[in-house]
Amino acid sequence: MKYWTYLILPLIVSCSGKIEEAPPEVAYYKEPYRPQYHFSPEEKWMNDPNGMVYFEGEYHLFYQYYPDSTVWGPMHWGHAISTNLITWEHLPIALYPDELGLIFSGSTVVDWNNTSGFGENGQPPLIAIFTYHDLEKEQSGTYDDFQYQGIAYSNDKGRTWIKYEDNPVLPNQGIRDFRDPKVMWHSPTESWIMTLAVKDHIEFYRSENLIDWTKLSDFGIDAGAHGGVWECPDLFEMETDDGQSRWVLLVSINPGGPNGGSATQYFIGDFDGREFVNENSPETILWLDYGTDNYAGVTWSDIPEEDGRRLFIGWMSNWDYARLTPTEKWRSAMTVTRELELVENQDGEFRVTSWPIIEYKDLIVSTQRIASDTMYRSYMIPLGHDLLDIQLDIDMSESNDVRVTFHNDQGDSLYLTYDRPGAMFTIDRGSCGKVEFEESFANIHVADHQIIENEIQLRIMLDRSSLEMFVDSGVLTMTEQVFPDRPLDQIHISSSGELEVSGKVNKLKSIWSK
Ligand code: FRU
Repeated sequence: MKYWTYLILPLIVSCSGKIEEAPPEVAYYKEPYRPQYHFSPEEKWMNDPNGMVYFEGEYHLFYQYYPDSTVWGPMHWGHAISTNLITWEHLPIALYPDELGLIFSGSTVVDWNNTSGFGENGQPPLIAIFTYHDLEKEQSGTYDDFQYQGIAYSNDKGRTWIKYEDNPVLPNQGIRDFRDPKVMWHSPTESWIMTLAVKDHIEFYRSENLIDWTKLSDFGIDAGAHGGVWECPDLFEMETDDGQSRWVLLVSINPGGPNGGSATQYFIGDFDGREFVNENSPETILWLDYGTDNYAGVTWSDIPEEDGRRLFIGWMSNWDYARLTPTEKWRSAMTVTRELELVENQDGEFRVTSWPIIEYKDLIVSTQRIASDTMYRSYMIPLGHDLLDIQLDIDMSESNDVRVTFHNDQGDSLYLTYDRPGAMFTIDRGSCGKVEFEESFANIHVADHQIIENEIQLRIMLDRSSLEMFVDSGVLTMTEQVFPDRPLDQIHISSSGELEVSGKVNKLKSIWSK
């Protein structure tokens, strides 16, 4: 058998007493490569996370969804909810294409003051703001104005949605890429701000009622990375632990990522309700993730103040190979939910870190501690489990390199290497199971990283078909899909010098059961 499988072959005793074999049936969420603690749709194609909002005890996750195939097609908004950001309940499709077009990416807000007038019985409505994509118009090849913004509202906690009858609310003036509205409430100016991706820059719009929009400003035509089209932006204010505040603008870009294909960059600066001012030089490029599988990620709206976290989720794939990955029933998953934080580094520069949310501790079934009081060249850690949350502190005072290998008896190996003289991380998935479905998939991915003192801190979350690495409190993140032929259930840590390794391996349980 090519993949490891979890086929259940229950024995059924028939009336005659004869033992018959029941037809093979794949148990719920147990197919080869099915993520066990990441969100993936029950079946068919998914891309960007959309419209994430918290309302009345529920975290909503909508997503770009094509219910008829495992490759991209006419887009709907799929829907799931969670009360803990870890386990998810699938709900029916929230938004279907209509005569104005397909439903592309966008956001959802709680209209607390009923500025839109769509609320009922004194309750605030949820308002979804999304891009309509008129496929026929695009395919006719004669017009460029086939993307425009529409809204829909819900008065039953997101269960059913009514599209606004006078859509679109923001028509297109003739620009091919005009999409992915992310809306936030800006208290100082008492207005809604829409951040929109427009081909090679961002446009900001303002509204008092989510219906009538006025353009405020442009940003970015000469700043950051421009190797591809700008998509799926997000704008929010963040504070460091010591109370310094900055505005952060996330911009996904495809292609043109640091290791090829799709990736998300960010800008740090100020937003006064009209304009975003980048505080770094236009040449500065900051990547949220150096892996190739974290795209189109944005943050939750309306997280209660007493929580106060900036919660993020991304699509764990890349347009370079998203349609080709070796899964059958469904295609692609989301990253783990991450908390973004603003930090100031030793050089006084502000950076955004990513870290898995604390709630993942609830999935721990057992913990294996690693503690060495002497230095070794090599540590073998057999696990017999492949759903892992690993935290390692590695003392490199006697060594210049470290390699963490995830492997199995089948010969699949996934290598994470840090090279101190080159100040560089590499991830090599080229010898780890299925790679041949697309040419670039086996490429080695690199990221610059300078360790402080002699220590390196790694957190690695491994699921059936992904690895997410967070280095030194999350200043460096790399997210990678992997398709090993059998579970990666052994770890080997090695160096050409000697290392002192301490930490723990948390074995996690699946979130999917029925
Ligand atoms: C990003 C993206 C968005 C668009 C959506 C279409 O992955 O291209 O810009 O709205 O996907 O599915």
